[in-house]
Amino acid sequence: MSKPKTILVTNALPYANGPIHLGHMLEHIQSDIWVRFERAIGNKVVYVCGDDCHGTPVMIKAASLGITPEEMIERTSKSHSEDLKGFLVNYDNYYRTHSEENHKISCEMYEKALKKGYIITKKISQLYDPVKNMFLPDRFVKGTCPRCGAKDQYGDNCEVCGATYEPTDLKDAYSTVSGATPVLRESVHYFFDLPKAHDFLYDFIHNTGVLQKEMGHKLDEWFKEGLKPWDISRDSPYFGFKIPGTEDKFFYVWMDAPIGYLASLKNWCDRNNVEFAPFTDPKSDIEMVHFIGKDILYFHSLFWPATLMAADMKLPSKIFVHGYVTVNGAKMSKSKGTFIKASTYLKFMKPESLRYYFASKMNGTVTDVDLSLDDFVARVNSDIVGKVVNLASRTAGFITKRFGGKLASAPYNAEILSLVENTKDKVCEGYESRNYAEAVRAVMELADEANRYIDKEAPWVIAKEEGQDDKLQRVCTDGLNLFKAIITFLSPILPEVYEHAKEFLKDDLRFEDVLKPLYDHEIEKFKPLYSRIEMPQIEKMIEASKEDLKAAKAAGAPSQAASGDYEPLSPEITIDDFAKVDLRVGTITKAEEVEGAKKLLSLEVDIGFAKRHVFAGLKAAYKDPAALVGRKVILVANLKPRKMKFGLSEGMVTAAGPGADQVFLLGVDSGAKNGDRVH
Ligand code: MSP
Ligand code: ZN
Repeated sequence: MSKPKTILVTNALPYANGPIHLGHMLEHIQSDIWVRFERAIGNKVVYVCGDDCHGTPVMIKAASLGITPEEMIERTSKSHSEDLKGFLVNYDNYYRTHSEENHKISCEMYEKALKKGYIITKKISQLYDPVKNMFLPDRFVKGTCPRCGAKDQYGDNCEVCGATYEPTDLKDAYSTVSGATPVLRESVHYFFDLPKAHDFLYDFIHNTGVLQKEMGHKLDEWFKEGLKPWDISRDSPYFGFKIPGTEDKFFYVWMDAPIGYLASLKNWCDRNNVEFAPFTDPKSDIEMVHFIGKDILYFHSLFWPATLMAADMKLPSKIFVHGYVTVNGAKMSKSKGTFIKASTYLKFMKPESLRYYFASKMNGTVTDVDLSLDDFVARVNSDIVGKVVNLASRTAGFITKRFGGKLASAPYNAEILSLVENTKDKVCEGYESRNYAEAVRAVMELADEANRYIDKEAPWVIAKEEGQDDKLQRVCTDGLNLFKAIITFLSPILPEVYEHAKEFLKDDLRFEDVLKPLYDHEIEKFKPLYSRIEMPQIEKMIEASKEDLKAAKAAGAPSQAASGDYEPLSPEITIDDFAKVDLRVGTITKAEEVEGAKKLLSLEVDIGFAKRHVFAGLKAAYKDPAALVGRKVILVANLKPRKMKFGLSEGMVTAAGPGADQVFLLGVDSGAKNGDRVH
């Protein structure tokens, strides 16, 4: 092996205002598997995470619970740590951003940036809650969409029509904190001069191989749009660190959040007598690797390296980006019971089942990972129980009963054992590149071969034959040696089964010894290593997740906790009110992307007596516009035409769903003609 590396591995810091759920777990499981593998092959890894404590949502959640933010983060920290331990995620340190270390490093980095001219100030106008006496982040302002008129839309974009706008564009805006009508107020903000770091960032992102290739497109889009100064300050009251040299300005949560990685590391270094400085020294060959979800790419690939560069600190070596978890093909939903908390899962199921399932589906790209619950049950039962554990259970009994627990001194079929070598290469490559699906596939192929071999030799038949003891012992030894290799390969994914297998095989099962079978070696009596999942466990978990939602509602949790479920019913209307809306059947005759528009498609809809040109927020949901041509849709045909940046929009195509890529066009049964009215 080449010289062992030293690697700092981080996982995105979960927010302190909510529980860990199965979406988070994808990332913790992904990074934990990688860390276990890197250690298995001899690299030195420091693996850190912690809670992201600052910001308005934490402050408001604490207030709604009648406790201080400090008390709240204390509680969350405990439950987060327990959940992660429950899933066998083995951090060296699980710390928090609200800490001495983070305060100190954040101020130092800021002051360095200030000295080097990266900090600028600007006066901005922002909505202010005159009752709570606080500035309102976009998400804390709601109102009527200026474009489509949908009620209760957030201050940054409309989930109904996809429009993006400034919170000041909302009609009938209200503060979600107090319900008051916000007023505009001016305030001086501090900005990090991102444009000044343009050339550095362009080079960092394009020429260092820090990101997966597939991220290129997204990043080019950002550079094309142009970098803008990044607002890093928030006004009081704010739960965060005060900016040095100011009276009442605080660091925006995303300024000190990634610094929290280093704070967690520093805290660990101090407690373990390890030198911290080399980890941040640009000249050291220590690597820094971040695991993150696709939603926080901008923060990690632009803001974070820029702040590190300005502070003359070491840059990330790799930023590994993953996709989102969906359950049964859809976004996790509280009302469907598929928004599953880590702690709820652990009440009904073993952590390794999810670790294994996620691993079998993670391929190192940013595509979303679907937890299909039927498939989950089938896969865990057939692979872990049916293929892996079964291999040992079919062979170990003979060794114990007939040979005093002793393995043979030689193989019966050396060729079958030689398959392990080929598997090893695939497994290592898969883990290293985070294509765990590939690693799992290779191991399962080996397990299939091994089971076929045992089926063919049938030790239970040999056992009944006279004078075949030697063959019986050797065949079973082959089976157990294959089991040994398989479980060693799976050790990063199934750490507990691996521990039990060590006891059973009375061996350390070191990765470097994976090609060395055990001979003349005593083993323990076999005990079942894993049990099947039964469907009722899944049903109970879903039910319990629905209960979680009810309990949260009863406890008066802030309404944003339930967002993503049902939007409130609008006030009652009469049939005459409804008749004012003239809905017509139409056929899409043209569908194209709109240059410069992130969310819109340009559609031409034939409604029999006219052709209408409409801009619709469908781009994220319908990636192939051409496929829309010919589809029948329902058009709001008497909507006042609206002039948009890209042209005139003459109506609205009806669709359901929460927005972004979850938008579903309403269809029409065959028979209806273009121009028919909907009654
Ligand atoms: N606090 C920030 C991260 C700061 S890192 C310096 C944050 N927190 S989060 O709790 O919202 O998300 C933490 C991580 O979990 C992110 O990487 C995010 O992408 C990931 N996930 C949250 N929900 C997820 C899914 N449903 N699926 C997969 N990953 C998800 O962002
Ligand atoms: Zn709208």
